[in-house]
This record gives sequence, C-alpha cells and structure tokens, in this order.
Amino acid sequence: MTTSPGIELISVAQTSEERFLRQIFVRDQMAEWSKHPLLMAKADGVCYWDVQGKRYLDALSGIYVVSVGHNNRRVIEAIHKQFDVLHFSPPMHGSNPVAVQLANLLAELAPGDLNTTKFECGGAEVTEAAIKLARQYHRLTGNPGKYKMISRYMSWHGSTMGSLAASGLKSRKTVNEPLPAGFLHVFPPTCLRCPFGKQYDNAQCGITCATIIEQTIEMEDPATVAAIMVEPIGHTGGVIDPPPEYLPLLREICDRHNILLIFDEVITGIGRTGQMFAAQTFGVTPDVLCTGKGLSGGFIPISAMIVRKPIADAFWGPIETNPGFVEGHTNEGHPVACAAAIAVLREIVERDLCRNARERGAQLRAGFEALAEKYGCIADIRGKGLFLAMEFAEDVPTLRRFPASVNFGVRVGQRALQNGLLCRFDPHWIAFGPPLVTTAEQIDEMLAVLDRSLGEVLNDL
Ligand SMILES: Cc1ncc(COP(=O)(O)O)c(C=O)c1O
Repeated sequence: MTTSPGIELISVAQTSEERFLRQIFVRDQMAEWSKHPLLMAKADGVCYWDVQGKRYLDALSGIYVVSVGHNNRRVIEAIHKQFDVLHFSPPMHGSNPVAVQLANLLAELAPGDLNTTKFECGGAEVTEAAIKLARQYHRLTGNPGKYKMISRYMSWHGSTMGSLAASGLKSRKTVNEPLPAGFLHVFPPTCLRCPFGKQYDNAQCGITCATIIEQTIEMEDPATVAAIMVEPIGHTGGVIDPPPEYLPLLREICDRHNILLIFDEVITGIGRTGQMFAAQTFGVTPDVLCTGKGLSGGFIPISAMIVRKPIADAFWGPIETNPGFVEGHTNEGHPVACAAAIAVLREIVERDLCRNARERGAQLRAGFEALAEKYGCIADIRGKGLFLAMEFAEDVPTLRRFPASVNFGVRVGQRALQNGLLCRFDPHWIAFGPPLVTTAEQIDEMLAVLDRSLGEVLNDL
C-alpha cells in the first residue's frame, strides 16, 4: 500500500475493512460509502492526499471551510503560540483577551452597526443561537408574542433540532420529525424555475418570492413573527443567487413589521462571495449575521453571531429586569479557536483575498460558461465570487432535466472525484467553492478536470 509521505500507515481500505468501517459513522449512506471509503490523510494549499497517496484538487475548501488554504503556516503558528499562553478560559465566569480581540475585529469588518458578537463552535449552534436571540429580544422589548420563524424551503441551517426545524430540506427533516413548533417556510428565489411560474426579466415579475413573504406575515399576524432567516445565497437548493431586489425587499418587510432579519452566512461569509460578507455583496445589513465555516479556516471549530447594536442593547440592563442573553456552550470563545480565526481574518485582509475571490471567481465563471458552450447540458450558472454552481439539463432550451435514474450531477461529481477533484454534487447541479487563496493556474487545473469528467459522463450515457 502506498501512502503519502510522512503519514503513518493506516491500514484501512485494504485490510480488516469490515472491522474498520463499522467503527465510524460518516455523513454518507454507510454501506454505499464503504464500497470506496474516502479517507483523507494529508493536505497542503488547495490539495488533499488520501491514505493511498492519491492527490485531489480541493475545489470545495473541504466543505466551504478551508478559506485560507490547507496547512496555512500563519494560522498554525498563531495556534501554537496561543497554546503556550492560554488554551482554555472559564466561559461561565468571563471571557479572554483573544475572544475580545476577535469580536472587535469582526465589528470592524462587518457592515453597519453589526458590532456585538457571541461565539459558538459551529454553524448549527450559531443559527440556533440566532433563533433564541430573536425570541428573547422581542420578549425583552415588550413583544413576547413574537416567536415564529420564517425561513425557506430547500435551505440548510444545521442539524440541531431548532436549526433543523428552520431548515427546508425534507430529506433531512422527515426522519427526525416531529420538530419544534413555530417554524414557517416560504419558497426561495429560484428564478430559473420560478415557483410562481414567472420570469425575472428585470424585475417584471414583481419579485413575488419576496412580496409573498409579507403576505405570509400578514396572514400569520405580524404580532407573532419574530424573525426571517435566510442564507443570502442559498446553498443546498443549488446555489440560489437572489435577484438584486430580493434582499433589500426582505429588509423593508422586516422593518415594517418589527421582525429581525437574520442572514445565515455560514457559507457566504468570510470572503467567499468576494466581500467579507454577502451582506456587503448585496448591500443589505441584517440585524443578525451568523458566520462559521471559513472563519475557522478548518483549523479549530468556531462560529460567530454578530448582532446590530440596537438589538444587542436590549440585552443590556439591570439584573433585576434583564437576564442578558440566555444561551451558551462550554467551548464558546475558545482562546485557541479565536487565535486561529484572527489569523484567518488577517490573512484575508492583508493578502486582499476578497479581491482574489472576485478575480478567480470571474475566471471560474468564464470556465463554466465555456463548458456550457462545449457540452450543451448546462442550463444555468449561479453564484458570486468563489461560490459558483452549474445546473444541468438534458434539454437546455426547455430546461428539461436528466431523468432521475441518470443521476447526472452525482455522476459528474463522482467522476470528478475519481479524476482527482473534490466538488459539491447533487442530482441536478454541482458547485465549486475553492479556497480564497486559489491561483489562476489552479483554477485552470480544476476546470480541466471538470471538463474531462463531464465529457466522460456524457460519453457513458
Ligand atoms: C448555510 C449553513 N448554515 C448552517 C450550517 C450548519 O453548520 P454546521 O455543519 O457547522 O453545524 C451549514 C452547514 O453546512 C450551512 O451550509
């Protein structure tokens, strides 16, 4: 068995498969995964090597996490230094200087008066915290009846029961039902296949996908609605990039009805869309911004909920009448995770990686467009910066999809993996989200592998 250099032999794939594979639950369907178990052993820059020594281009930043590249020495050194000074601080009694420094940095980088941060350890924790914050905010400001959450079908906000209830993926929800009450769902802005049968055409459609949310609020009773939570660009529905009017309209609707606007920027935050936050890309400041994934760079788990000053102020008052924000986790504000996140943010700011995301994103989009010309099976290219997807169709003019039995997008993604490229795949679309440090040559290399994989799958049909 060949292994990549420096890796102790982990005899997994070839020997005692049954014994090994039954020792771990993976995200995939287990029996299926065990046929070709993928075990990454080493990574550097924008590449992984598996336990067999095979190299993969990481066009997905792990899963939109590895923002500043694998094996980033600046972040690793910051972590080592922090370990030598303070590796844990008591979360019930206070915080630590690194967490305070990171909170200040986030306040500087976030738009508007988003200036107060609560740290968590992952995406589900942070969206769950935002739900609790919305309910507690209304309670503290004299509207205890406002508790309902509005979010979107096809969305993903995390695996805990609250974040799952807010999510809109039936395949992940049904098996866990019943879920907590008080969660409503609306259709996302999927312009290519508008759920209202309209065409965007310079907003001629009236942006029904946004205006209908106001009607939903009115039918529900605004006095019962606490917050709207959306991903600025929805991921799980196939990188649903809203028309420019959509998020500003949500902002107006929320303002009219005293409803908090929560952006789940667990994927879109930290440079991914070409600005530090998608809030800046779309020019809309939410009341609460949740970020995770890229903030840690994948080094030590951390996420952050950043809250606008007037909302945070509601939690500041005499102890007799104000309990503060009632929510917390053992590892929140972990000093080593905060030190890593500070180093990640410095890398992004000092190396102008948001600009790199815009430039490499434009290159990647052009490459996707060339593939659309070449193969005639790409109906749409969506996204911003280094967060881009292509949606497939068997017949592009009519948007007729490949039959479900073909599983086209999954086949493309799996072929790409065989050919040494990691991307996100689904039956009808694939997405790229490479590290923000990716170079022009590496984008070309990723595109070449995708080109080859698409060609091979089409040939096999
Ligand atoms: C938009 C979004 N929000 C929240 C989450 C949940 O994050 P985590 O898996 O870190 O709990 C995810 C995870 O994929 C996500 O994509």
